[in-house]
Amino acid sequence: FSRQRLLVVANRLPVSAVRRGEESWSLEISAGGLVSALLGVKEFEARWIGWAGVNVPDVRGQEALTKALAEKRCIPVFLDEDIVHQYYNGYCNNILWPLFHYLGLPQEDRLATTRSFQSQFAAYIKANQMFADVVNQHYKEGDVVWCHDYHLMFLPKCLKEYNSEMKVGWFLHTPFPSSEIHRTLPSRSDLLRAVLAADLVGFHTYDYARHFVSACTRILGYEGTPEGVENQGRLTRVAAFPIGIDSDRFIRALEVPQVQDHIRELKDTFAGRKVMLGVDRLDMIKGIPQKILAFEKFLEENPDWRDKVVLLQIAVPTRTDVPEYQKLTSQVHEIVGRINGRFGTLTTVPIHHLDRSLDFHALCALYAVTALVTSLRDGMNLVSYEFVACQDSKKGVLILSEFAGAAQSLGAGAVLVNPWNITEVAASIGRALNMSPEEREKRHRHNFAHVTTHTAQEWAETFVSELNDTVVEAQLRI
Ligand code: UDP
Ligand code: G6P
Repeated sequence: FSRQRLLVVANRLPVSAVRRGEESWSLEISAGGLVSALLGVKEFEARWIGWAGVNVPDVRGQEALTKALAEKRCIPVFLDEDIVHQYYNGYCNNILWPLFHYLGLPQEDRLATTRSFQSQFAAYIKANQMFADVVNQHYKEGDVVWCHDYHLMFLPKCLKEYNSEMKVGWFLHTPFPSSEIHRTLPSRSDLLRAVLAADLVGFHTYDYARHFVSACTRILGYEGTPEGVENQGRLTRVAAFPIGIDSDRFIRALEVPQVQDHIRELKDTFAGRKVMLGVDRLDMIKGIPQKILAFEKFLEENPDWRDKVVLLQIAVPTRTDVPEYQKLTSQVHEIVGRINGRFGTLTTVPIHHLDRSLDFHALCALYAVTALVTSLRDGMNLVSYEFVACQDSKKGVLILSEFAGAAQSLGAGAVLVNPWNITEVAASIGRALNMSPEEREKRHRHNFAHVTTHTAQEWAETFVSELNDTVVEAQLRI
């Protein structure tokens, strides 16, 4: 009996490569929720196929990197600079990402946008085909192929063209927007049809699944059923599979001496002050400017708290070649500078803003405070889950945006806010800081139970078993 192999295909591999010499590479863990969740999936015979985050134009470099990645069970897809620019920076991160998070299509110069839109879409299809070629080279009969995220919406179609017997699932890690938003996308129909080539299509929440099914019925004229989407007798199963984290990994980390040292250091540094924490990629969807403005409002209205509270914002650099992200970085720096100038003293500032990533232990130590997650839209938001996992002794408060997928699972324990309503967020900061230990305990207990039972492993097992069942049922139907 051999275990079924799982080919996990995502644009971003769990490790990103940094070149140290002609044939020498070092590998670093990649940032983001997709990678974190997939790293928490253990009980599979898995291979990862994706982009290592670097351009490797020479064959010797490619061979050496392929070898280094093989030790991590990773298989690279090599994308050249032009493709990365048009597919990753352009179509994925300047068009699909903002649209799926309700930030609309780029509008600066409509004519130029239309022209570049077409070439970016062509690059998107080409890149998806390159992923499909690599999957096809490594595919063995019986494997399950699990495609991930908005980068790879064409992949199910490309794979089924190679081999209609392949078991193909696709999962979206972002929201799927209302069909009225999806309708504005010039390539709306092609993308939907390509995804529907999969056997099973999964989303974080029931709402996103419903939006997808409505887009298929309204835009393509297909039939929506309780099972999914049907067209001429062929069913694509559509369902919700809320993701989770490897909660034990965080709980165990709190016992590690290095983490405890970090926690002690933090306590000394911020002695006598309460710490509020934000951990986000520096992305428009995370609502970082709104969060900082709400914190300013709180300080404005509560002079007594001014020297007793500090906001620690970790802003992990991301997609730095996309102009919108560059603009956001300067905007955030400007606001932080202004507020620190306004409320700082000779020795302290109210906001510590760091443009950097943290290693796992430093992050676990930081999660020992009060968390502030104010995403304008977010597929799930795993930072909120990780925070809850690290809070079993302190029962800290989680302030959470109602527009994060996590609001549907952690809503009863968190203080939910509308991130656009700065007055409400400021009031919630006050509420969290003053909350009684009994209420904190009650709220925490609810969330902790959820986070420790709905894990990444369980998420993957449910998806893969549903995919296997879907294929069997489809065969019975013929
Ligand atoms: N994270 C990271 N490096 C850091 C800080 C955080 O990799 O320096 C991780 C964090 O632990 C979490 C993920 O990045 O697992 C963020 O996931 P989330 O779902 O909150 O948002 P995303 O970045 O995927 O939009
Ligand atoms: C989100 C996306 C992931 C992506 C991650 C980091 O979580 O859903 O697909 O990997 O952000 O972004 P990046 O562009 O660096 O891969």
